[in-house]
Amino acid sequence: MDKLLIRGGRELRGEVLISGAKNAALPELCAALLTDQPVTLHNVPRLQDVSTMLKLVRNMGVSAERDDNGTVQLNAAELTRPEAPYELVKTMRASVLALGPLLARFGHAKVSLPGGCAIGSRPVDQHIKGLQAMGAEIVVDHGYMVARLPAGRTRLKGARILTDMVTVTGTENFLMAAALAEGETLLENAAQEPEIVDLAEMLIRMGAKIEGHGTSHIRIQGVEKLHGCEHAVVADRIEAGTFMCAVAATGGEAFLRNARGDHLDAVIDKLRDAGCKVASEKDGVRIASKGPAYEHLKAQSFSTTEYPGFPTDMQAQFMALNVIARGASMVTETIFENRFMHVNEMVRLGAHIHVEGKVAMVEGVQQLSGATVMATDLRASASLVIAGLVAEGETLVDRIYHLDRGYDRMEAKLRGLGADIERLTGAAAA
Ligand code: UD1
Repeated sequence: MDKLLIRGGRELRGEVLISGAKNAALPELCAALLTDQPVTLHNVPRLQDVSTMLKLVRNMGVSAERDDNGTVQLNAAELTRPEAPYELVKTMRASVLALGPLLARFGHAKVSLPGGCAIGSRPVDQHIKGLQAMGAEIVVDHGYMVARLPAGRTRLKGARILTDMVTVTGTENFLMAAALAEGETLLENAAQEPEIVDLAEMLIRMGAKIEGHGTSHIRIQGVEKLHGCEHAVVADRIEAGTFMCAVAATGGEAFLRNARGDHLDAVIDKLRDAGCKVASEKDGVRIASKGPAYEHLKAQSFSTTEYPGFPTDMQAQFMALNVIARGASMVTETIFENRFMHVNEMVRLGAHIHVEGKVAMVEGVQQLSGATVMATDLRASASLVIAGLVAEGETLVDRIYHLDRGYDRMEAKLRGLGADIERLTGAAAA
């Protein structure tokens, strides 16, 4: 199992290229299932989750070719098996995104239930409820959601869908399903994330009729057929935010090429309040921070909420900053019930954190000291890397397969900024 060895204490300086967003690429790969024409996606990040999604669609009979420049060519003309098996779904919950498009195009689909997840129970009841409102019959059979249209129907029908909570992948499933449904669908309480907007723009390029994306009310007029398209995946705001927190924590200055400052307002506000300089420029975002953090940065309290609020996917990384900033802070997690698993590992590095329910109380310390720590989920892994970059001595981050799920060559990018970080593989990692 690969590990990352980090020798902390170096400032980060230079330029880093931000990749395409994981959370946009995954639904967009599924959107290709909606048409029998070729779809070309550019700026697709090189990640384990993308490889898993490609495996999933190939398993259905879709041809999917990826080149070294981040372009993926998909053709779902010969899709013969509208199914997502447990072996693939269990490693990536986003596989549930296949359900809406398969059902809309073929009238039937079989997708495994995702099962447990480290950061919380994460059910898919809202996905099922919404698709049922569009006329689908869905039963759970041997761990699979088996969905079909009632006898005599060939298309889903438009509906008004009001979900109990804001759900990102739920909104994406409904968008894709509604694009091919008969009549109008109104999504109320829709997620507003930039990845939703990017998916809607891709669907519009395919001939879908969508209005209101980027707001909580999305209106879709279904069409009979969608055609192929070419689309570039939006930049990954979470990757950009992670690098911002890393630079903030170590001190230094970096230009994040392709990052979109307007997608990260809540995080940037907190970084500025902490004492960093952040500026949106034409082709990216620049961040400057004075080290050592304890002398120059002030810890910030925040609470995670849906977009445009502070993203839950940035909670752990910002906590890594609070841990070595001056003062006390309160971090409240409102989206997932079990998303503080990085806390115990940070404590092993010398952090002062106390968790009570949804709230973590952090008391900044002057210095962390390197240790072996265990990555437990994707964003927790990133937070441990940030902590390792500022800790004194060596930090070994174990189980970085979590990191590889969602970060495109993170250690190479950090090395480009001057970090002392290396991947141990094979015998070296044993
Ligand atoms: C997406 C992102 C993930 C991010 C999360 C919240 C992708 C591939 N993943 O995950 O990185 O952390 O949004 O911003 O885009 N819920 C239910 N029933 C449902 C659906 C959701 O109870 O049917 C609950 C979840 O358990 C959670 C909350 O609603 O507590 C929000 O979840 P949701 O927005 O659906 O997260 P994902 O789409 O899975």
